[in-house]
Amino acid sequence: MAETGHISVLAQEVLTGLAPKPDGFYLDTTFGAGGHSRAILDAIGKRGKLLALDRDPDAILRGEKLVELYPRQLTVKHATFQKLGAMLGEWGVDKVDGILFDLGISSFQIDQPERGFSFRFDGPLDMRMDHSIDSNSKTAADLVNTMTDRALADIFFKYGEESQSRKIARAIVQDRDKKPFTSTEQLAKLAERVIPNRKRGIHPATKIFQALRIAVNSELEQLENGLKAATNALANGGRLVVISFHSLEDRIVKQTFRRLTSLPIITGPAALLPQTKNVPLPFRLINKKPIVPTLEEQQLNPRSRSAKMRILERVAI
Ligand SMILES: C[S@@+](CC[C@H](N)C(=O)[O-])C[C@H]1O[C@@H](n2cnc3c(N)ncnc32)[C@H](O)[C@@H]1O
Repeated sequence: MAETGHISVLAQEVLTGLAPKPDGFYLDTTFGAGGHSRAILDAIGKRGKLLALDRDPDAILRGEKLVELYPRQLTVKHATFQKLGAMLGEWGVDKVDGILFDLGISSFQIDQPERGFSFRFDGPLDMRMDHSIDSNSKTAADLVNTMTDRALADIFFKYGEESQSRKIARAIVQDRDKKPFTSTEQLAKLAERVIPNRKRGIHPATKIFQALRIAVNSELEQLENGLKAATNALANGGRLVVISFHSLEDRIVKQTFRRLTSLPIITGPAALLPQTKNVPLPFRLINKKPIVPTLEEQQLNPRSRSAKMRILERVAI
């Protein structure tokens, strides 16, 4: 299948949110197809620097091509959010002026049947963002063929908010005894058979595919750790911009930002002591409500529909 390319979501809003300075240091933790990186590079000009990360080796190959156009400004590294601090260390920088997370997967990943992310095409049931030889993550087929029905149901419920999680998990365990799951089509057909009456327009496999992808790539743990490392790495005045695509991600971003911008709740005997008001907090929220794509953007790029962008600024070290 031909690659269809990836349209960067909320492109102008990301630039406004990051407010890049001409000589600043920036970090794009999700290089993907490089659209946002390129916009940041053009905004920072010749004196600024950008480090771009991605856990997908295919994205890194695209990144290396972009390095040829911006050799002095752009560095690209194959790494997960978990390695963010170490990557900045290797780059020789401990604080940056802005950090972007554009979560989820790119159209390059979802539109390639051989990556196994989509029930719309038949392909191996893989879903690893890092499919390099030395990747040690399990594939979606590994999970589906080896986990107990209870553990699978938990994944479908927790990460897919699938109300029929137990029914689907039981059917998987029965079917796999006859024939292990190897393809996206096999799993999509099972979902069609087990929950045939899903709302029109939503494929019955939608939620279990989302759930398996999150589990295979430990996406929520990656996000929590990545946000922690990112807030530590922000210079005074630096901005953290995060675009999420489903409620589980957005909840983590919202709660992390809220924790960093509110006074700790004091309990126990200390609560009886007079409290100091106006304690300066190290971060402030730029937007209280998430920024979402305009109707025009949603029409031009339907994949942007569920995007929510939140911005945090460090105001003191
Ligand atoms: C939505 S795409 C980014 C698109 C990009 N902003 C653009 O404009 O082209 C998300 C990318 O983040 C990468 N990614 C997701 N989770 C990651 C993680 N934990 N660590 C590193 N990269 C990750 C994916 O492999 C994917 O390439």
